[in-house]
Amino acid sequence: MTPVVAPFPLIRLRRTRRTPALRALTRQNTLTVDDLIWPVFVMEGQDEAHAVPSMPGVERLTIDRLVDAARSAADLGIPAICIFPYIDPALKTDQCEEAWNTDNLSNRAIRAIKDAVPDIAVMTDVALDPYNAHGHDGIVRNGEIVNDETVDALVKMALEQARAGADILGPSDMMDGRIGAMRSACEADGHKDVAILSYAAKYASAFYGPFRDAVGASGALTGDKKTYQMDPGNSDEALRLIHRDLMEGADMVMVKPGLPYLDICRLTKDQFGVPTYAYQVSGEFAMVKAAAANGWIDGDAVMFESLMAFKRAGCDGILTYFAMDVARALDA
Ligand code: PBG
Repeated sequence: MTPVVAPFPLIRLRRTRRTPALRALTRQNTLTVDDLIWPVFVMEGQDEAHAVPSMPGVERLTIDRLVDAARSAADLGIPAICIFPYIDPALKTDQCEEAWNTDNLSNRAIRAIKDAVPDIAVMTDVALDPYNAHGHDGIVRNGEIVNDETVDALVKMALEQARAGADILGPSDMMDGRIGAMRSACEADGHKDVAILSYAAKYASAFYGPFRDAVGASGALTGDKKTYQMDPGNSDEALRLIHRDLMEGADMVMVKPGLPYLDICRLTKDQFGVPTYAYQVSGEFAMVKAAAANGWIDGDAVMFESLMAFKRAGCDGILTYFAMDVARALDA
């Protein structure tokens, strides 16, 4: 498509910017509550909430409180919630067995939400980092994150999440071959309709810092995740990963982090035309909050502008810690 620009003054592009009505009529992209997936943190206990200092306004919730939060989200029209567990350090093992315990914290949270608020879609995190003391997304052997053994563990974990009633499995681990393995295990186990939203292009990013605080993995992480998460210098590889995951049975794909990787979102949408999501990660959220708290930016305006940027880049939805704030503002 070639943009048409007639010579001045036949065309004055300011004409369609003159009033709110004209701007509304000519706006190409919109942000609605349908675009939001709300990431939440769950912890053991009863009727408690713990603030996450590096993510102002975000709290880890006990399951009962999380169910209430899910109900509020559903009432506002948020279509999906994504659960991340804060696991008791005593349950972390080298083999990560707690990850596929039928009654682990995350699976109990899935069941509780699906019981009480059946209409909200529940998305999970499929990765082993909450379940081992190293803070790595896979099983660690002699300092190496071993791929195939990790995939076997992830399949067991994903199956338990599907059995608990998850609507969307969210593999965030970046192992090779996990989507195909999960997809065939789900088919064989009778979960033919569970969706997989693959974290297909997930970068080894410094923007995840506050999240690791929230799930209690920051102090723990030994080394970095560069042998499995992507190098920030690459974009062709992102498209190969996305193609690969789609061919293995992913229904939806994600780019992560968000704003610094909008080029990857646009390439993905243009190349594949599939449901495309971005994760506006904890560090992106924290930067907006910190600047707003200092009075350096208008936090609400930046929140909306940043989310609109994802829509403009071709995303169908955004995982964002701003989900509730946005939904409330859109509802007002
Ligand atoms: C790990 C996982 C991470 C995030 C989601 N799942 C952190 C990591 O890869 O170290 C980050 C989310 C965020 O920063 O908001 N499986």
